Amino acid sequence: MPERTILITGACGEIGQALIEALSEDPQTTIISLDLKTLPGHLTGKTTHFQGDLLAKDFIKEIENKYAFQEIYHLAAVLSTTAEYNPSLAHKVNTGITLDLLELAARQSQQIGSSVKFLFPSSIAVYGMPDLETKSSAPPVKETQWTEPTTMYGCSKLYCEKVGSYYSDHYHQLDDQPPIRIDFRALRFPGIISAFTVPSGGTSDFGPEMIHFAAQGKPYRCFVRPDVRIPFMVMPDAVRSLLELSKAPLEKLTRRVYNVTSFSYSARDFQKFTESGFPGAQITYQPDLPRQEIVDSWPADIDDQAARSDWGWKPKYNAKDACQGYLLKNIIAHYA
Ligand code: SER
Repeated sequence: MPERTILITGACGEIGQALIEALSEDPQTTIISLDLKTLPGHLTGKTTHFQGDLLAKDFIKEIENKYAFQEIYHLAAVLSTTAEYNPSLAHKVNTGITLDLLELAARQSQQIGSSVKFLFPSSIAVYGMPDLETKSSAPPVKETQWTEPTTMYGCSKLYCEKVGSYYSDHYHQLDDQPPIRIDFRALRFPGIISAFTVPSGGTSDFGPEMIHFAAQGKPYRCFVRPDVRIPFMVMPDAVRSLLELSKAPLEKLTRRVYNVTSFSYSARDFQKFTESGFPGAQITYQPDLPRQEIVDSWPADIDDQAARSDWGWKPKYNAKDACQGYLLKNIIAHYA
């Protein structure tokens, strides 16, 4: 008998695919995955996949009737660039579906008699630095600072952090007998870079795009200035941080929302690294001003001290190991 059943939404996205790979190594875990898309072939047999639209109410109901989940990884979201082209749809997807799944988790916590864990990827997009001078002079930003997002994506992530925390700590607070509540935990991720998948629709995409284009011998026109700097981490660290946060004893957590990061890189840093691995790389800059402004509003670095001291977070890959040890080797093999 499997010991736990886990739900992953947005399963065909970059984090979803890597998370399914990692979780499927545990024979005691049954994975149920949901996405608008069909499951990529390499994940066949690792998850029971349902293709469908989470905005269709019956879809979630149908899954809820079939399974009881101990953990939910709710990854489905419209990313920051795509969201700006249709803010109202992005709001529906990013907040409405989260609310429906928080309700599902709340009901199932009651049914199984223990708190369903709800893991939520938030983002550096919840931050909004007022200007470039502040961005470059501010020390690494802590969870409570500069939470003034300028994108629908950032607004919706910040809202979901609050509502998820509410479902954990105050849901039905006026009832005579408060219910068994869910256990919501969120990570504010920096830009994430995978050697095997390419992001789409995000605004931190300039880093991974540059490397993946060069690896395929394609010229890359970067949509931000060379000096633009934001924090990043590689996918194995991102997945590990989610799994470690999910396993951390609740009593060790001093907050429900944590920054995690590994290294800060500018577009020029990515260029240098890309050219060192792919000497013929053709990289030019043509900043797209509105997208540039979004990246300018994100901090140059974030402070993940709380994650380090509460649950022992530590990235395995610093900038050098990420580039030389993980990205280069795997990207070359991937496109070979
Ligand atoms: N990578 C995301 C984006 O660019 C930020 O969390 O939208």
